[in-house]
Amino acid sequence: MEIIHSFASYIDQYKRSIENPEEFWTEVANDFHWRKNWDSVLEWDFHKAEVQWFKDGKLNITENCLDRHLPTCANQTAIIWEPNDPSEASIHITYQELYVNVCRVANMLKANGIQKGDRVCIYMPMIPEVAYAMLACARIGAVHSVVFAGFSAGSLIDRINDAGCKLVLTSDGAYRGDKVIGLKSIIDEALEKCPTVERVIVAKRTMSRVAMKPGRDVWWNDEVKKVTDSCAAEEMDAEDLLFILYTSGSTGKPKGMVHTCGGYMVFTNYTFRTAFQYQERQVYWCTADVGWITGHSYILYGPLSAGAITLMFEGIPSWPDMGRFWHVIEKHRVNIFYTAPTAIRSLEKAPLSFVKQYDLHSLKVLGTVGEPINEEAWHWYHENIGHGKCPVIDTWWQTETGGFMISPIANITKLKPAYATLPLPGIQPAVMDENGNELLANGVEGRLAIRFPWPSMARTIYGDHQRFKDTYFSTFPGKYFTGDGCKRDDEGYYRITGRVDDIIIVSGHNMGTAEIESAIDEHSAVCETAVVGYPHDIKGQGIYAYVICYDRPHEEDKLRNEIRELVAKIIGPIAKPDKIQFVSGLPKTRSGKIMRRILRKVAEGDTSNLGDVTTLLDPSVVDEIKAGAI
Ligand code: WTA
Repeated sequence: MEIIHSFASYIDQYKRSIENPEEFWTEVANDFHWRKNWDSVLEWDFHKAEVQWFKDGKLNITENCLDRHLPTCANQTAIIWEPNDPSEASIHITYQELYVNVCRVANMLKANGIQKGDRVCIYMPMIPEVAYAMLACARIGAVHSVVFAGFSAGSLIDRINDAGCKLVLTSDGAYRGDKVIGLKSIIDEALEKCPTVERVIVAKRTMSRVAMKPGRDVWWNDEVKKVTDSCAAEEMDAEDLLFILYTSGSTGKPKGMVHTCGGYMVFTNYTFRTAFQYQERQVYWCTADVGWITGHSYILYGPLSAGAITLMFEGIPSWPDMGRFWHVIEKHRVNIFYTAPTAIRSLEKAPLSFVKQYDLHSLKVLGTVGEPINEEAWHWYHENIGHGKCPVIDTWWQTETGGFMISPIANITKLKPAYATLPLPGIQPAVMDENGNELLANGVEGRLAIRFPWPSMARTIYGDHQRFKDTYFSTFPGKYFTGDGCKRDDEGYYRITGRVDDIIIVSGHNMGTAEIESAIDEHSAVCETAVVGYPHDIKGQGIYAYVICYDRPHEEDKLRNEIRELVAKIIGPIAKPDKIQFVSGLPKTRSGKIMRRILRKVAEGDTSNLGDVTTLLDPSVVDEIKAGAI
């Protein structure tokens, strides 16, 4: 399929993709290496939440990310790895080297008992081995479940057990700015409660001393030496599982989103090339962690299947100083830079001299993802980083969607700050009102649903298809419900306004309020908790917890600290509440439902109009909550 090169060709491709989706996606899919062609392009039933793309097509995604580039691009860089510490050397890994390493790690997995269909948990820092690990799983048909290395033991336990992982890949530790995090000891703690794990393979990164459990734990370096570096790719069905990635839900239990091989490959590749208008040999840098969907789709699979040069960064934006991102852009002459609004907002607060000391002229395209970008941050990014000449590609999508859904196309779509703009080909958004009616006109606001399947949509929630159906396909029968609110303006441009459910997005990370509540409830002094989000300057949303204790706490700050540490221990530091207010009761309806609307308003500092409180069981708690607001 020819890449869109003008607005007219966007309109043309979009039209074709809607009028004849099967023909359109066939044309896109024909650009890949399939061992056998599919028998049917699309089978779907949104009422049953069932979707299949390229049924009976046979492929291996790593043949498309690696083998097929070797005849022409073996010596071209595939991954540029930039370490946490700028004084350590960066590494350029060619397609040939990546291929060899992936094959070796694939053989290492096999030698350690992993077969097609087995689930492998990956809990690693941003080092080249994590890329080898993910691709090695894909090569042999094992299903990877990457858990973000900032999550703690409690989160790992839930995820490892839910997927029934047999093997864990980890490292001795991780560098994060000037800190060293003991990943292996977190794994050790988690595995006390994970009976399915038989083997742990430990890569060396920080050279920290770690405990190795005999019979279970082995060193990566030793294991890779025992195997060869040739490994034929397993033949996979288009609909075989490629990976599971957990995302937060409205209940405490995270949802294991299932992505499959064929459609995911086709869509991440197509959207990567289209939205960023990637040109051969450009250096592309996505600052996400591989623990999130952005890292899966747009550090690894999309760019590598396109033969791109993808930069992988181990560190953080604020260390050794607030100029690190800009330094890396200058150092590697980055052409396309893709980051999160929360990072932009925090870097915007630093003196502009951190930006100005670096030469950013290599930049051609900027991108953002993860949460709505406010206009101010958009302009700062556009002017100071892009010098007014790089389009800002605001990509709206989700773990569930696998790839970009609504996004400008670089240098083709007219931009509008804070708008994700227009749907990419194949994507059919629908704006719904509260009664479930579709709003067909422009100039409307409502809930965002999607009318028709696209190739990289999640196929189910691992082990719980009913929850998949209930969460995404029951709100608006016959449509996929995104959980987001949106506006469609007079020109048909989309602006995503944020979640309309109990998920909050803190520094670009999805978190279920229920998950945080249940962690806080683990404290012996705590009786009940309600958590809401509130607007936060840098993080986008902050976490505000209303906590009822059995006895009025004597030392409130001490208890606050204990609660924060407990949440860090159970979920991870990213879930620590910013504000904790102790209350004697929560605003509940007579049926016992917490009126979160009221709690949100108080947390936002807007108590002027709390709406109708007469249906509350005890309206007087509202005054107490207002008076004690932080
Ligand atoms: C939000 C991240 C506004 C949205 C890829 C979505 C955005 C959730 C944008 C998914 C954007 C993501 N503008 N909001 N450009 N991108 N979101 O699963 O609320 O971590 O539903 O996937 O992030 O977050 P997730």
